[in-house]
Amino acid sequence: MALQIGDTAPDFEADTTEGRIRFHDYIDGHWAVLFSHPKNFTPVCTTELGATAKLKDEFERRGVKVIGLSVSPMDDHPKWAADIEETQGAALNFPLIADPDRKVATLYEMIHPNANDSMTVRSVFVVGPDKKVKLSMNYPASTGRNFDEILRVIDSLQLTAEHKVATPVNWRHGDDVIIVPAVSDEEAKQTYPDGWRAPRPYLRIVPQPRS
Ligand code: BEZ
Repeated sequence: MALQIGDTAPDFEADTTEGRIRFHDYIDGHWAVLFSHPKNFTPVCTTELGATAKLKDEFERRGVKVIGLSVSPMDDHPKWAADIEETQGAALNFPLIADPDRKVATLYEMIHPNANDSMTVRSVFVVGPDKKVKLSMNYPASTGRNFDEILRVIDSLQLTAEHKVATPVNWRHGDDVIIVPAVSDEEAKQTYPDGWRAPRPYLRIVPQPRS
């Protein structure tokens, strides 16, 4: 069965552009993003890895460690990394797993054989400091992902990990949030003595707590 939200992210050891890594040790109490791309030397992947490198400060600010995965062999990585730097204006600054035997790709079900039986789809796993899967998504090879959306989800996950709130449709950091249904009005009054806006009793809206 596919990995689900709340499952422990499987541990693995793999060779990467930054040496051999054991995933759970790499997480080391941080948030993590593990993402696959179909293959080295492909155009969409090249743009994605460059964009991820440019977001280094954004990931760091959120305490997130990023790790990419390619089923291409390690020997291919330096040349492709040079291409990424030259064409995208940003050098790889996170480890890229070489997974030619597809050990990690199989563990995380990143290969969808009915789409393609040799390349991974564009999978993303956001993993919490507790090593549990907090988000998983799969994009087709032909569609580059929106990394602003990945950052947005991380903002929401980190906020809701700290406060008993949920985030509404199209929420962005700083927008109003929703008190989760599990919190009674009595409990909510302790946290929000100034009250909340409630167009319905189950829809209780408050300003975003400071994270
Ligand atoms: C790409 O990264 O450009 C790509 C990879 C596989 C299929 C289609 C596009």
